[in-house]
Amino acid sequence: MDSMGALRRTHTCNDLDIDSLDREITLMGWVLRRRDHGGVIFIDLRDRWGITQVVFNPEINPDVHAKAHQLRSEWVIAVRGTVSRRPENMENSKLKTGAIEVLVRELRILNTSQTPPFPLDEEVEVADTLRLQYRYLDLRRPEIARNLILRHQAVQTIRAFLNSNDFLEIETPVLTRSTPEGARDYLVPSRVHAGKFFALPQSPQLFKQILMIAGMDRYYQIVKCFRDEDLRADRQPEFTQIDMELSFISEEEIITLVEGMITTLFKALGQVEPRPPFQRMTYDEAIRRYGTDRPDTRFGLELVDLTDTLRDCGFKVFRTAIENGGVVKAINAKGCGGFSRKDLDDLTEYAGRFGARGMAWVKVKDNEWQSPITKFFSEDELHAMGGVLDAQPGDLILFGADTTKTVHQVLSELRLDLARRLSLIREGSFHFLWVTDFPLLEYDDEQKRYTAVHHPFTAPNEQQLHLLETDPGAVTSRAYDLVLNGSEIGGGSIRIHNPATQKTVLKALGIGAEEAQEKFGFLLRALELGAPPHGGIAFGVDRLMMLLTGSSSIRDVIAFPKTQKATCPLTDAPTAVARKQLSELFLRPDWKDKT
Ligand code: AMO
Ligand code: AMP
Repeated sequence: MDSMGALRRTHTCNDLDIDSLDREITLMGWVLRRRDHGGVIFIDLRDRWGITQVVFNPEINPDVHAKAHQLRSEWVIAVRGTVSRRPENMENSKLKTGAIEVLVRELRILNTSQTPPFPLDEEVEVADTLRLQYRYLDLRRPEIARNLILRHQAVQTIRAFLNSNDFLEIETPVLTRSTPEGARDYLVPSRVHAGKFFALPQSPQLFKQILMIAGMDRYYQIVKCFRDEDLRADRQPEFTQIDMELSFISEEEIITLVEGMITTLFKALGQVEPRPPFQRMTYDEAIRRYGTDRPDTRFGLELVDLTDTLRDCGFKVFRTAIENGGVVKAINAKGCGGFSRKDLDDLTEYAGRFGARGMAWVKVKDNEWQSPITKFFSEDELHAMGGVLDAQPGDLILFGADTTKTVHQVLSELRLDLARRLSLIREGSFHFLWVTDFPLLEYDDEQKRYTAVHHPFTAPNEQQLHLLETDPGAVTSRAYDLVLNGSEIGGGSIRIHNPATQKTVLKALGIGAEEAQEKFGFLLRALELGAPPHGGIAFGVDRLMMLLTGSSSIRDVIAFPKTQKATCPLTDAPTAVARKQLSELFLRPDWKDKT
């Protein structure tokens, strides 16, 4: 292997073009591809910035040419040579350096490489675990590297935006105590205090509120949060938030500021600029029209409520659902009347995954409603349904009848599936939506108590405060979520700054005075010592970047993500630890008995 010696890199692999002709330059990088053309060897040399073709010609230097014969994929080399125009019709218009090549006079092999476990020069499907195990190779691929570069630009843009708006970037602890964001905590045992644990923050929520009480007025942090929850394509156990909090502020001011931040970000990344004000919708309206609080508003296919129309109908499945307090809703899949039996079976199977016990359908024909269930409805009912559904010949109506929750779950997913099948979503389009007026609390059937829809520090709407005792589910909150293309990218609220209100809300959550003191005593105390009105929001950087880069998983925008099973194939974490370490932490292994 050669040393770099006196060689210094003069350019990156994306710098040279026609303007550099005849210059003597030095490049360093990785061998991406090697082609042998009748004695002349061509190498595509790659670095973070791009690719440059370098040429070894026996007529220019036979020794260097002979040495180049050894080169293999992913070897690390330095080349010195002159920039030359490529022969006519050998140009590559896809590369910035595509009009030139480098005629090499000196070659240094800085490192060799074994054959990589997967090829880096082609768009091949590589198993996810293998990609993560060899993440450093995966990241050499321009598509993935590009995501990290864009993420860097995004974070820098946001920092600059917030700095120019008088925010302070302040770090908060990672070893802390539980913050209730609704997920399970990651715990860290204390070696110094037997039987006690730190929790990793699910968010810096309480610290940022305390920073407001400390008079910092405008805080932000680009910060890791940790949540031990079931993973999905848009969820990681550790993820990054742009976390913000402001004092003496209203919902409107926060929304305006955020719209400015998002617009600046899209502009900086060369995207079509969104045009504030973004669309807004109350939680109730979102649920009613789309069955979800994070609707994808890039297409229609809205849910239509048929409960009142079909209350007394002859179809037992529907009538029973309504009698049991549930609903009947439908989607009019415009123009899908030609769906085959198999299409309908597929849709039914898909609906079943989200809890549907069946999926009644109707094909609207010129003179009739073709369906196994038409016979159960009166002429009047059919006519009324046709009206609310705006049914036209050629349409396909899909029904859900069950509890409200199940119907919404099923139809909201069916809606997305239909949009995909019918290609209703224009690639590269971005649709923002603020969802507001969330309920403060929701009843948890399993725990048999109310839980916070956002978190317990979200302010209730002042006028409804009195309902907390009598009808807690009816109280709305001052929370807002920002939804982008059906994905929740951010959420926040105006907070409670009055200690009495905070205690009342904790009580409504079934947290008595003693427990409140034990868990949140430090916050309650701080609220009593001059807490300003305040509010904020946090964005999921990973989700935002996933959407901005058109990736299908947030893993593609994270340098070292975890698998679906929360493991890291690169380092093999989590790992077993020595017994001694456990005993130092006062932990005794008993999982062997459990498994
Ligand atoms: P919330 O829990 O809504 O709010 O989180 C804010 C945003 O973080 C992103 N997010 C995630 N991204 C990837 N993986 C996860 N497991 C994950 N969980 C959440 C989402 C979400 O919108 N403290 C409050 C904010 C506030 O009230 O100011 C909070 O954490 O994009
Ligand atoms: P059945 O009477 O069970 O044969 O059902 C008649 C039609 O109603 C079939 O197309 C079923 O898929 C559909 N169906 C059954 N249960 C439901 C439900 N809960 N919601 C919507 N459609 C249903």
